[in-house]
Amino acid sequence: MIDIYGDLNNKDYLPQISETELSDDQVLVELSAIKKRLGNKVVVLGHHYQQDDVIAFADITGDSLELARKAAEIKTAEYILFCGVHFMAETADMLTGESQKVILPDMRAGCSMADMANRREIDVAWKYLTECTSEKIVPITYINCTAALKSFVGEHNGSICTSSNAEKVITWGLSQGEKLLFFPDQHLGRNTCFKLGIKLEDMVIYDPRKRFGGLIPEEIQKAKVILWYGFCSVHQGFTPEHNKMWREKEPDRIRIVHPECSFEVVQGADLAGSTSFIVNQIKSAKPGTKFAVGTEINLVNRLSKEYPHLDITSLSPYQCLCTTMYRIRPRWLLESYRAIEKNLPINVIQVDEVTKKFALKALDQMLKIS
Ligand code: 13P
Ligand code: SF4
Repeated sequence: MIDIYGDLNNKDYLPQISETELSDDQVLVELSAIKKRLGNKVVVLGHHYQQDDVIAFADITGDSLELARKAAEIKTAEYILFCGVHFMAETADMLTGESQKVILPDMRAGCSMADMANRREIDVAWKYLTECTSEKIVPITYINCTAALKSFVGEHNGSICTSSNAEKVITWGLSQGEKLLFFPDQHLGRNTCFKLGIKLEDMVIYDPRKRFGGLIPEEIQKAKVILWYGFCSVHQGFTPEHNKMWREKEPDRIRIVHPECSFEVVQGADLAGSTSFIVNQIKSAKPGTKFAVGTEINLVNRLSKEYPHLDITSLSPYQCLCTTMYRIRPRWLLESYRAIEKNLPINVIQVDEVTKKFALKALDQMLKIS
């Protein structure tokens, strides 16, 4: 049998389900039964980008802010099965109680954007930036990052944000100091700051792959916002040409995009906002309304099925799929349930106490602002 999980972080548990042992249909039957058997002991959280056959087993669905809030409210369940990506499970671990365990059904479900910044790089950048200017820099991180970066932000009195509350958090950040360091997503940072009235020429990119981040001291002194170079490879798949194509072909189709898309794509769209913003706009649309949606394809396809009185399609003719979210499959959910039933939980996500102390401070700051 192949080890499909990488590090199970429970060596006493022997994986039971190989890729071939159970058919997909058998997995669904067994999963329904075990979910019923374990009842309230386990709560399943599912991010909007998960596939339909995973969402079918979710007790709570939402975007990253909603799931973080819900995780904090779960008081009785012993286990939280997080169907999303690694940084979301880490966040849930920090917001849930000491005795509760958060499980990521497949340890390979990471986030390529979160991988674009690590603690060492941020420490190096911070040292350089704070040496270059005497003005106060407030660090703000998108929730799509490791707990170590959240901890950095807590240590330096900044805040975390999600795509739903970025405007509020950035407004708060600007009231706390003269400059912002925003990481890891340059697009969410630029799109939100621009919306708040900051000029493009007052934003610079810090690229850790370049010497001194590619910035000379004068550029740092002049800038209001220093954006980390990171991006989402899924949302970067939407281009200005896609906007142009729909504008010319069907001018009445509303182009609505996530702020992880590039500045040009956001500017060329009719509407831009977080995952929950997109869902809410679609929910409240009049019958017959047409949308071209610039976000992850599983969500777009689900919305199209859920609202048959609307005409919903992807902004891009190509599949913009989050391949890491896609790794969570019902069979790995079943494997996680089986391990819980044997009291040998696998894939437990646990943030160490030192990291957690300051990361929680930054998370609390975010929840207070939003
Ligand atoms: P939301 O905050 O909109 O859930 O986005 C999370 C994410 O990873 C989007 O790519
Ligand atoms: Fe990360 Fe992009 Fe996937 Fe969101 S869609 S989890 S930002 S890679």
